[in-house]
Amino acid sequence: MKRLPLSAAFFALLALGPVGCGEVEDPQTQPDDWDAALRLQEATDTNSDPHIFETNLTARIDDIEIISGKPTPVWSYEGVLPGPLIHVSAGDTLRVHFQNELPKPTTIHWHGLRLPVGMDGTPVHSQPEVPTSGSFSYEFVVPDPGLYWYHPHVDSAAQVGFGLYGAILVDEPDEPRDLGDEIVLVLSDMSLNDDGTLDSPDAGADFGTLFGREGNAILVNGRINPILEARAGLRQRWRIVNAARSRYFQLAIADHSFTRIGGDGGRIEQPVESERVVLTPGERADVLVVPRGKPGATLSVRWIPYDRGYGSTFNRPEEEVFRIHLANAPELSPNPLPQLERSITPIDTSSATNVSLELTKNDQNGQLAMGINGIPSWNATPLPAMLGETQVFVVKNTFDFAHPFHLHGFFFQQLDESGAPVHPLEWKDTIDVPVNETRRFVVQYDDRPGMWMFHCHILDHAEAGMMGMIDLQK
Ligand code: C2O
Ligand code: CU
Ligand code: CU
Repeated sequence: MKRLPLSAAFFALLALGPVGCGEVEDPQTQPDDWDAALRLQEATDTNSDPHIFETNLTARIDDIEIISGKPTPVWSYEGVLPGPLIHVSAGDTLRVHFQNELPKPTTIHWHGLRLPVGMDGTPVHSQPEVPTSGSFSYEFVVPDPGLYWYHPHVDSAAQVGFGLYGAILVDEPDEPRDLGDEIVLVLSDMSLNDDGTLDSPDAGADFGTLFGREGNAILVNGRINPILEARAGLRQRWRIVNAARSRYFQLAIADHSFTRIGGDGGRIEQPVESERVVLTPGERADVLVVPRGKPGATLSVRWIPYDRGYGSTFNRPEEEVFRIHLANAPELSPNPLPQLERSITPIDTSSATNVSLELTKNDQNGQLAMGINGIPSWNATPLPAMLGETQVFVVKNTFDFAHPFHLHGFFFQQLDESGAPVHPLEWKDTIDVPVNETRRFVVQYDDRPGMWMFHCHILDHAEAGMMGMIDLQK
């Protein structure tokens, strides 16, 4: 028998109870290949230095059978949907040799990572678009643990909607152990025709843009309604990212709750227990789940319509995202959770400057346009900021739809109406601004000057003009 730490052996014995002669020892683990139906392909590291992760990433169109027998011409990284999972540790250098074999120009944006602006993948200010047959090498240090993701920043609603996205999992060197069996879940959707082909990214014309296009096929790790095999009572750790261009994901499992331990920028101040988990496009969640039930039972992980404004819940049924099939073995009692407090210092707002933004609809010559403070992105002047400055953003939404507001390159902390930090403290890069509400957050810029983008992460809205820039100056 493998030697176990004393406490682990103790809990193992406790859970096992007396094992009589001739009885088979219960392995107390997830079933073999438990996550096979959901496993992501991982990017391969071609560099022998343990602190450098070097890989090739080619964007191209590849047929993938999302609906069996009906191949979809997916826009993919490396021919897989989602793109390969990049798994590194905080402090590692990531070097990605990107090759564009798509019929259109593109870039890669590394959502949530605090990198130099030249690696941020926003066209013009950060880098030129990578043309068809062109290439670009990205290289930067990955500073913070957490779950992040990568996606294009050219014609993003169409390109993300066609399948261009992947996850980046950044391990925390001294992370609390035994939080559960881990799985990365990339949630998205895709607009598929009956024959498996992709629907037009302009479907529904202006109304499609206003609402934000949600695909008719809900996908988890590129698959429709797969099955996870699980042992009842064994804790799982779900690292979730919402990579959909417009859809909000509100998840629930009947008679179960979630313990959220992390968000966009790694773990949060204290775990939060809830019946549902909500992720706007761009957001991440780190949640612990203990599936429970009778041996052989199947649990349904459901998408629950979320009210993000006009028509978003009307007449819309819940849908199954994936299923959890419980092994034919008795339910175990989960190990006690270790302490999961993270100390996060609130940003000092005493000398902060204010940035007031209103998310607006402002048609231009009869053409639908959205913007910020009444100005679409193509006419907007960048907002000035200085290295080291602290800014409090006050973002007001008087629009018919909620907007997930995203800032590139920096984390922020949410504030309440009085300007006090919202607990549990957490580092965010994307925050929901509901209809007719205002959200406040504080950001402290460090020493990375340049043009940093902010925008609504309903990508149809961003492309319709709801974007702007911070000009961070020395
Ligand atoms: Cu997911 Cu401009 O970002
Ligand atoms: Cu981003
Ligand atoms: Cu929006």
